[in-house]
Amino acid sequence: MAQDFAEFPLEVTPPLVEAHELYRFYHIGDDETLALRGVTLTVAPGEVVAITGPSGSGKSTLLSCLAGLDEPDGGYVVVAGARITRRPEPERAAIRARNLGVLMQSGNLFDHLSVADNVKMQLHLAGKSPSTVSQTVSQTLAAVGLEDRKDARLGELSGGEAARAGLAVAMAAQPSVLIADEPTGDVDATTETLILDALQARAASGGAVILATHSREVAAAANRVIRLRDGRIVDD
Ligand SMILES: Nc1ncnc2c1ncn2[C@@H]1O[C@H](COP(=O)(O)OP(=O)(O)OP(=O)(O)O)[C@@H](O)[C@H]1O
Ligand SMILES: [Mg+2]
Repeated sequence: MAQDFAEFPLEVTPPLVEAHELYRFYHIGDDETLALRGVTLTVAPGEVVAITGPSGSGKSTLLSCLAGLDEPDGGYVVVAGARITRRPEPERAAIRARNLGVLMQSGNLFDHLSVADNVKMQLHLAGKSPSTVSQTVSQTLAAVGLEDRKDARLGELSGGEAARAGLAVAMAAQPSVLIADEPTGDVDATTETLILDALQARAASGGAVILATHSREVAAAANRVIRLRDGRIVDD
């Protein structure tokens, strides 16, 4: 009998994101900030995970480490089976291009390119077929309510529009892992609903979504809420 079972192993879905004991310290002069103190988490396909916690609790630091944009001082991150921590930048960039869409609190857009061209460039970097690009750009901008701002540049966008444009760039290539820092900061309730629908659609098609938020509505829409305080998980 045992042999029969061995021939048909249970299908286990591997996690899309694994963080093992992440530590991140900052030093300014004699001051030491312990931004992350041993954060361990795994996120499965189909999950929308909200990271909450007071300002300064380590949310952005955690997301930067998960995206391989920052290096933890201890611990490591695995994305879609590939370790992204302490790898040469070209390897990290390749993992990011293949698997990750990232929206940070700033620095998401090239300011000399229009909103549409920023999205186009991301699709190009992700290796999407040029024949589908313009349709995907339109669909993605519609999903974040920015069709009528496609020709605008960063300097012409409001804070909320810039966040949505950054989200469009992060989502365009339908990455298996979408990491978004305050995706609904500075937006009205209608736009917040639009963005939440887009994030949930990504998870429904098998992606993992990890977002940091101060919004109660956004946290309520997640499958799972992880609360940080002083760089530690206090609730999951
Ligand atoms: N580059 C840096 N240099 C020094 N200290 C930093 C740096 N980045 C973050 N910190 C500190 O690390 C801690 C965590 O910051 P982080 O930005 O991760 O918080 P957060 O939870 O995202 O806050 P917010 O809700 O305001 O965005 C804070 O005390 C912050 O001051
Ligand atoms: Mg932050």
